[in-house]
Amino acid sequence: MERQMLRNTIDKLKKTGDLLECNKEVDYIYEMGAVLKYFQNKKPILFNKVKAANMRTIGGLYGNRNILFDHLGVNKDNRNYRFMEALVNPKPYKIFNSGPIKENKITSNIDIQKIIPVNKFNGLDSSSFITAGVMVIKDPQTGNFHTSVRRLQVNKGNSLSALIGSFKLTNDFLELERQGKSLDVAIVLGYDATFLLASQYSSATYGVDKYELDSSLRGEPLELVKCETNDLLVPAHAEIVIEGKLVAGKRELEGPFGELMGYYGRQAPHPIIEVSAITYRNNPIYQTAFPCEEEHLTNGLIREMELYYYLKNIVDVRDVYVTEGGGYRFNAVISIKQKRIGEAKSAILSALGLNKDLKQVVIVDDDLDIYWEREIEWAITSRCQASNDIVIVPGALGSSLEPSHDLRGLTDKIGIDATKPIGNEKFERAMIPGFENIDIKKYF
Ligand SMILES: Cc1cc2nc3c(=O)[nH]c(=O)nc-3n(C[C@H](O)[C@H](O)[C@H](O)COP(=O)(O)O)c2cc1C
Repeated sequence: MERQMLRNTIDKLKKTGDLLECNKEVDYIYEMGAVLKYFQNKKPILFNKVKAANMRTIGGLYGNRNILFDHLGVNKDNRNYRFMEALVNPKPYKIFNSGPIKENKITSNIDIQKIIPVNKFNGLDSSSFITAGVMVIKDPQTGNFHTSVRRLQVNKGNSLSALIGSFKLTNDFLELERQGKSLDVAIVLGYDATFLLASQYSSATYGVDKYELDSSLRGEPLELVKCETNDLLVPAHAEIVIEGKLVAGKRELEGPFGELMGYYGRQAPHPIIEVSAITYRNNPIYQTAFPCEEEHLTNGLIREMELYYYLKNIVDVRDVYVTEGGGYRFNAVISIKQKRIGEAKSAILSALGLNKDLKQVVIVDDDLDIYWEREIEWAITSRCQASNDIVIVPGALGSSLEPSHDLRGLTDKIGIDATKPIGNEKFERAMIPGFENIDIKKYF
């Protein structure tokens, strides 16, 4: 049995009963997205019959927290530690001469949409978009491998437009472009949860080789093979790899596209990728993601790890939840064991300052479940007084993925201290002794 990438993931999902298989014919234009959206991106679905296509498609893979933890081999309590441990102990990857990804190769007359059933999702989207592709590049200075998810608009023939918003990748590309050079890229589809998680660590912050990070996270070397038309390495057991280069001096209009927060991102000129080869396994499975909530969970998990360790220096932080409704970026709930007055306010300042995306933070005590919205509402309504406990920072940097920010080019940040005053018995929660041990089945 294969141990890495999508086929292994599918085997595991079948064993745990977490995979839905759809045997009805489904159109990859709109219809497939509607089915994925119906399950709120929390149900892995394998579409066995895709209309007018030779490939099956899988979606909804990594949007469910419990399934994701299971596939990453972590749990709620040890995840931050494990993710940080991999960062400080990167491990070597392994290069093979060949692998299943080389079973089929197309290197001429490439028409992407004819080969791959790339989905169109929302009504005003400009084209079909590859939404789950992990882009691989080699850092021009260090030789480190960087991976990241970037949405890719399918243009005509062998051309894709790439939205490359991140600091490091954009700067690397612009620097090469100034020298008239293009940047080699590979897009990987059909990967596993570990490969996706590794891609979400920030290159600008950590500068690590994400393949070494991946090998550390998975507890064995990531198995790689060389591309056909450039020197990049890609997973030997992936389903599909698209090879090409980000071309110096060329831009193509990209968007509109219904993105992360459910609004349309506007049309703008973006760099293009000229595709030089597509390799794929026999009986390949195209990997998609409804834009773009599901895979963003992994992005949120890295943010949780960062907040957890940053705040550890300041307060006794117990857990961090970067919420789904806030796009796994904009809103965090943080529980602390407050020992001195003022710790919650310090936690607010630190959290809001850590990165530009985080717009709202709620600090609560460790006597409630931060993953349960009702408990957060309860803490805000019963432990918080607005005149004292709300901190507003007007006009800070924000994210263009969140449209209220765009109105003035800046964002206001808000911090809510929903912790109880220390030592005041009015805030003691009413508890039944032995409640947590009750076995309800015994009574019915
Ligand atoms: C589902 C998903 C879609 C994403 N789409 C984009 C995108 O289109 N453009 C982009 O710049 N970043 C996108 N990101 C964020 C990057 O993947 C993330 O910032 C990156 O992996 C971190 O590495 P970096 O520091 O090299 O950017 C996306 C993330 C996820 C999880």
